Formats: sequence, C-alpha cells, structure tokens
Amino acid sequence: MNNAQEIEKLLRPLVLAPMAGGPSTPRLAAAVAGAGGLPFLAAGYLSPESLRADIADLQGYLEKSSELPFGVNLFVPDPQGSRCDVEAYSDYRARVLEVSGVSPELVPAEPIWSDDAFEEKLEIVCASAASFVSFTFAHPAPAVVERVHAAGKLVIFYATSRPGIDAIVDSGADVIGIQGPNAGGHRATVFGVDDDSNESVLELVEYARGISCKPIIAGGGVSGAADVRNLLRAGATGVQVGTLFLNAQEAGTKKTHRRALEEFGGRETVITRAFSGRPARAIENSFSAALSDSAPGFYPQLHFLTAGLRKEANERGDAENLNLWAGTGFVHAKEEPAADIARRLLAAHD
Ligand SMILES: Cc1cc2nc3c(=O)[nH]c(=O)nc-3n(C[C@H](O)[C@H](O)[C@H](O)COP(=O)(O)O)c2cc1C
Repeated sequence: MNNAQEIEKLLRPLVLAPMAGGPSTPRLAAAVAGAGGLPFLAAGYLSPESLRADIADLQGYLEKSSELPFGVNLFVPDPQGSRCDVEAYSDYRARVLEVSGVSPELVPAEPIWSDDAFEEKLEIVCASAASFVSFTFAHPAPAVVERVHAAGKLVIFYATSRPGIDAIVDSGADVIGIQGPNAGGHRATVFGVDDDSNESVLELVEYARGISCKPIIAGGGVSGAADVRNLLRAGATGVQVGTLFLNAQEAGTKKTHRRALEEFGGRETVITRAFSGRPARAIENSFSAALSDSAPGFYPQLHFLTAGLRKEANERGDAENLNLWAGTGFVHAKEEPAADIARRLLAAHD
C-alpha cells in the first residue's frame, strides 16, 4: 500500500511516541489506542523475546477493541558504530567514576557494542499485526524497506532537519516522521544526513508539506492541546507525543524518573551525550552538567558504559545520576490514566 489517502486512514491525529528504556508498555499503548491515538511500541534495548511478548500482549488488548492499528519502532545499527577509540573511552570512564562516585564494577572497562538484535527484531515485527514500522538513528537498507512492505506494513523514517526530510522524500519510506528540537529523549538525527539546524517543528512540517505529498507525523516538546492543533494545521496528519505520557499510570517509567518529572519543574532540559554517546534531551542533573562537554560520541558504547550506574541510581532514588529523558513540556506530565491525557490532547482536533 503506498497511496497517501489509504495511509492517512491508518494514521491518527495523536501518535504515542515509542519510548525505549521502560516507559513504552503494551498497557500504555492499548490505552492510547482505545482513546483514539496510534500507539508505537519501542523495540530498542528489548531482547527479541521481550519484544515478541510485548507485541503479543498489545495484540491481545487490541483484538478486544476491534483491531486498532499500531506501530513498532526499531533502532537501526549505525554501520560505523562499532568504531570506538579505546583511549577516549577509558578517559571518559574515569571521569564518569569520579563524577558519579559509583563502584568501578558497575562500569565496563572495555567498550561493548551491539546491533540491538536488529535482524531478529525485524523478523518479529514483520510477522506481527503491526501496521507501521518506524526506524530510528539511521535509514535501513532499501532491502529492509522492501521486506517490511512485502509483509504488508508501512515504513516511517524520522528527520530532524530539512536535509533529513529531503532524504526521506527520496526514500522508500511511506510516512515522513519529523522530530523537532524540543523533543525528549534521543534525537532521531541520522548522522551524515540531518544537519545541525535548530528549526522549530512547525517550520519543519511546513517545509515537508511544501515539497511532498507523503503523510507527516511530527512532534517534540508538545505541552498541550494547542500544540497539537498547531501542528495539525501546519500539515501534520499525526502529532507524536512522548513526554506527556511518561507519568501516565500505565507507563513503565522508572520510579526515580517519575519523581524527577514531578519535582524538578524548576529545572531546564538540555541536550546531552553524557549518558549514551548520542544527543538526547533530558532534565539537567549533576551527571549531565559535569559530563556533557567531555562525552565522546560512541553509541552504543556509552549507553552500556552508564547502564549499570543508571540502574543503581534508579534503585537508590538518585535522580542526579539517571538519564531523565524529557521534552521541554515535561512540567505538564501528570500522573493520570493515559486515556485522559490522550483525550485532552485530542480535544484540540474537533
Ligand atoms: C523516555 C523517552 C524515550 C524515547 N525513546 C525513543 C525510542 O525508543 N525511539 C524513538 O524513535 N524515539 C524515542 N523517543 C523520542 C520520541 O519518539 C519523540 O520524538 C519524543 O518523545 C517527542 O517529544 P516529546 O517527548 O517532547 O513529546 C523517546 C523519548 C522519550 C521521552
């Protein structure tokens, strides 16, 4: 299927962003689908078995509600990603130990690389009932897009800039995903394609609308119904929202992250590589303040470097050493049922 009108029938004005690392759960996705949104599950960091279980759970919930559409998001391994300067890694590790004060056993001495089991997860998603498959961090090879299409699913690539949008227009993707500069979590920047410009999400949507008829989903920093309305008016078919759902009752957000969203309202968000090596927007804390400038851009090696200390920080309730992913609208993330959040955001649509 590649007809824009047919695709738009499956899209929804509200899209629940995939949120890897815990927040995305089948219950959250089902609640948002039930309220009229299009939910995405996050495959990133999950084992293939957990992804299979999450998809099965969501399919189970949705069958009861007349088979609503959903999507799954995959992290694409960077072909250059296994390159890591061991000396720079060791220097950064020493800084991390100094700043966090954690025990050295929690921080791997050697860089770890993984392709996030991309092939296995792709196979699982292709065999699932998902209508959409979105790809983050890189564009997969054309053969991958063909496989997803052959499985009867639609493909979404993300861009953070005009050159990134141009590349999607020229690609086999069916939908243009746009992530604005205020978005929480990892920037979906495709290295070597997106540039460093910081255009607003509205400007990027207008640009994409002007050059392509492909449907657009866009988001980043949405703080309420007015932002949804503005993005739809600018030409988006769906508005992708993540942060406002982080405190939803059905989300799997870590307890220390939840507490920070509630208590750190007076803090700014910053874009930092300190936790994973890739730029991501988070509520500023001691870790990012001390390490953002020295973090080398090795992903996923830095993700694994900080994984143990982040886990421990969450357990200890230490928000200063945790990756507090959040978009600029985070003060509006309230603890309530996801359906209430979705309905409030969708009220803008009528
Ligand atoms: C906790 C968290 C985890 C995220 N994980 C993913 C992910 O796995 N894949 C992805 O494409 N985007 C991810 N994102 C980015 C979202 O797709 C989306 O761009 C962002 O949530 C939109 O901005 P907002 O958070 O301000 O609403 C994540 C965002 C957050 C806050």
